[in-house]
Amino acid sequence: MRILLLGSGGREHALAWKIAQSVRVERLFVAPGNAGTSGISLASGGTSANVVLKADDFEGIRRFVLDEGVDMVVVGPEDPLVKGIYDFFRDDTALSRIPVIGPSKAGAQLEGSKDFAKGFMQRHNIPTAAYQTFDANHIEEGIAFLETLKAPYVLKADGLCAGKGVLILPTLDEARRELREMLGGMFGQASARVVIEEFLSGIECSVFVLTDGHDYKILPEAKDYKRIGEGDTGLNTGGMGSVSPVPFADEAWMQKVEQRIIRPTVEGLAAEGLDYKGFIFFGLINVDGDPKVIEYNCRMGDPETETVMLRTKSDLVDLLEGVAHGDLARRKVELDERAAVCVMLVSGGYPGHYEKGKVITGIEAVEGSVVFHAGTARDAEGQTVTAGGRVIAVSSYGRDKDEALHKSFTEAQKIAFEGKYFRRDIGQDL
Ligand code: AMP
Ligand code: GLY
Repeated sequence: MRILLLGSGGREHALAWKIAQSVRVERLFVAPGNAGTSGISLASGGTSANVVLKADDFEGIRRFVLDEGVDMVVVGPEDPLVKGIYDFFRDDTALSRIPVIGPSKAGAQLEGSKDFAKGFMQRHNIPTAAYQTFDANHIEEGIAFLETLKAPYVLKADGLCAGKGVLILPTLDEARRELREMLGGMFGQASARVVIEEFLSGIECSVFVLTDGHDYKILPEAKDYKRIGEGDTGLNTGGMGSVSPVPFADEAWMQKVEQRIIRPTVEGLAAEGLDYKGFIFFGLINVDGDPKVIEYNCRMGDPETETVMLRTKSDLVDLLEGVAHGDLARRKVELDERAAVCVMLVSGGYPGHYEKGKVITGIEAVEGSVVFHAGTARDAEGQTVTAGGRVIAVSSYGRDKDEALHKSFTEAQKIAFEGKYFRRDIGQDL
């Protein structure tokens, strides 16, 4: 079969790496991809290719899919999903037979609107932080609600903000001020409504599920490291590393997650008529042994995918076909018992200002780890250069996470580019 994968990050390289291992795949295209997503050897022979198309250029994607006879579209990032790529295919007679792995626009609201997600959880009794939502006409009510909560205060822009829409504020004064700022247009339309919620204290864990709309399969869980600085300090990033498995996510805990969160979510989507055939990312927090939902995403995580794909032994394309055909229940997820970790190499200055175009050397010297490209590109001379904040994910297996981390840190030293930075404390808290 011929697969088109949309996106350009480390997540997409990891998905491409896994898809390429399936003998069912005859062609793999990645749009727009990065320096690592072209030229991947396919198990069936041949190599993957990048396509110069933006992931939200629906008309361009339409032409490409029809010209190349693409059989399946796999969507990496949330943007095309929230903008309705699933519906675009479903409603076009020439495209409707081609499955898109990802939810409909309505289903993608689980990520696209925090207020929708909170309402959904409330309707289905899914454990999450207490909350209320306010718009610019109800600032005083919002402040009154803040006054009923304890510090720190959590404010969330309702819409997508490229990961910047959540503020956690230590004092009531700051919370009041930021609430006014947000409702005053700090994030444009995305913060026209703000969710104020109770702060939950605990360790976070990401759980991933594939669903065909009625059945689901649980993929390996992972923990990511969001802050730029060691000891989880400094600004939030897209993610500086990940570890799987997560020790506290043992069988008993995962059973609670499945019963209290996963099953009611999949059943709730079906009950509300929300078409959802794709990945669900549950951002969870462990509060005194009980899992609660911090957020939903309608896609895989980055950099969690860079460990989850290592630990997924089954043929991913078989699972994706199960999603597309609605017979996921008949497919099997087999896990790799080893630990997997990912250490992200980032550009100096990230997540603030950073320079691009730095030549990357040493990738070919890496042995025994998997190098996933994130923000990389090829320059006019064919050299691999930096093209984003998060540049390279070094993923490794180990008998346990410490062995895997040792491997990733050792191999990460071999890769060089001006300004390279990575956190050396990934996984140390587990
Ligand atoms: P989100 O964009 O929803 O993932 O939020 C970003 C981060 O803010 C999460 O990963 C958590 O670390 C933190 N966070 C969000 N909501 C809460 C909450 N209710 N209590 C504690 N931390 C939270
Ligand atoms: N690593 C968190 C995310 O992908 O949103």
